[in-house]
Amino acid sequence: MVTAYRHEPLTDFTVDENKLAFMEALKQVNSQLGKKYPLIINGERVTSGAVIASYNPARKTELIGTVSAANKELAEEAMQAAYSAFSVWKKWPPEARAHLLLKAAAIIRKRKHEFSAYLVKEAGKPWKEADADTAEAIDFLEYYARQMLDLKDGVPVNSRDGENNRYTYIPLGVGVIISPFNFPLAIMAGTTVAAIVAGNTVLLKPSNNTPVVAAKFVEVMEEAGLPKGVLNFIPGSGAKIGDYLIDHPKTRFVSFTGSREVGCRIYDRAAKVHPGQVWLKRVIAEMGGKDTVVVDEDADLDLAAASIVYSGFGFSGQKCSAGSRAVVHEKIYEQVLEKAIALTKALTVGNPEEAETYMGPVIDQAAFNKIMSYIDIGKKEGRLVTGGEGDLEQGFFIQPTIIADVDEKARIMQEEIFGPVIAFCKAESFDHLLQIANNTEYGLTGAFISKSREHIERAQQEFHVGNLYINRTCTGAIVGYQPFGGFQMSGTDSKAGGPDYLLLHMQAKTISEAL
Ligand code: ALA
Repeated sequence: MVTAYRHEPLTDFTVDENKLAFMEALKQVNSQLGKKYPLIINGERVTSGAVIASYNPARKTELIGTVSAANKELAEEAMQAAYSAFSVWKKWPPEARAHLLLKAAAIIRKRKHEFSAYLVKEAGKPWKEADADTAEAIDFLEYYARQMLDLKDGVPVNSRDGENNRYTYIPLGVGVIISPFNFPLAIMAGTTVAAIVAGNTVLLKPSNNTPVVAAKFVEVMEEAGLPKGVLNFIPGSGAKIGDYLIDHPKTRFVSFTGSREVGCRIYDRAAKVHPGQVWLKRVIAEMGGKDTVVVDEDADLDLAAASIVYSGFGFSGQKCSAGSRAVVHEKIYEQVLEKAIALTKALTVGNPEEAETYMGPVIDQAAFNKIMSYIDIGKKEGRLVTGGEGDLEQGFFIQPTIIADVDEKARIMQEEIFGPVIAFCKAESFDHLLQIANNTEYGLTGAFISKSREHIERAQQEFHVGNLYINRTCTGAIVGYQPFGGFQMSGTDSKAGGPDYLLLHMQAKTISEAL
């Protein structure tokens, strides 16, 4: 028996004791930088010739650690290990698999600030964002464990005279998990353990920007008692091992979170049936977003400005849920813009190791270059009203930037930037607000700020996004409270942290016995 699920509380850093504990964790992590992490294949530590060096994006020369990189031969070994472990792991009682996740949650909870400190150092997350990432990882473990317990006997179906019918769920096989840098603990852990608790075995290829925190998580799963071969840790390049594993005939499913470009490529490659393959691969894809905060004419102006600024600039806008577009009714446009500029100018940008930093760096040089080039595009497409500068002296820092008076079809209104840039666009009416809100190829999150019940009801019907938020920010979904995933080019609408997520990693079996 387990107690009901409740999400992990966030840490209140205004409490001195918590602040001191976090500083201590940072100190401890700082003393462990530069370590080497091996691959883990079939429970064995394997060091390959190639390494991925992980650096602190806020201090470009500070090495967080080096992680061995897999090549095709090692990826093949990992595949064989996962394939063979599947025949044993799938028979583990679902209760035992679920309890293993609960144990892993307890281990991470005990070392919560240590994990968050790694997120500060390796991903450049400010304290609060890092703390939320760790809490979300704990939530995924707790939530999916309970979901497996709910699913273990299947769901009831009718029987009739002379017949007994059952409907159950069984695991799929070997899954390839490819996870992103922006929630290096939560999404990496969540996608991995959803697959594992359902009875599958996995090959985990974390982001090359954040492999150290992933290595730390794999150690936790081992400590919790996961048998060898169930979770194989194989960081490496997409071109070298990603494609190889996506194409592999023994790959049963792929769980990917990352860019639209890579997601579409995976979807395409996975569709091809290779010699020896006896199933159609399943793809779970969580891709990008071009998310909008929509402000109605009667909105609370302070709430509107705060929703825009915190949706857009949290973790430097590097969230698929980030509100990178503000679409505001013309009657209040100038007032909301003015308030948003004032709030933005008050944000503290700097080293995320400092408690008061609101916004740290972006993840790497490539991200920096891409975002700065979008700021240049934005300067031509609209009016730069705050920010716009980058600073590469110590890390990859970009000021929170607002570009005003942008046309609804402009590139910075349509293309995902994945950085601290918000485009402001004016609408003439409520219908026009919704029309612009729905005019992208994505459909992940959106916020609607309004006091009108009638408009709120209509937005619920007509604002076409997977996660719609009313009178709040469009980021920060909580596991089990706001299942997360989007429509259209945002992915396969696989709702992470939702009641049907585990089913995506399983297949249903009907058993009908004549009596
Ligand atoms: N799940 C994350 C959020 O809601 C991406 O912001």
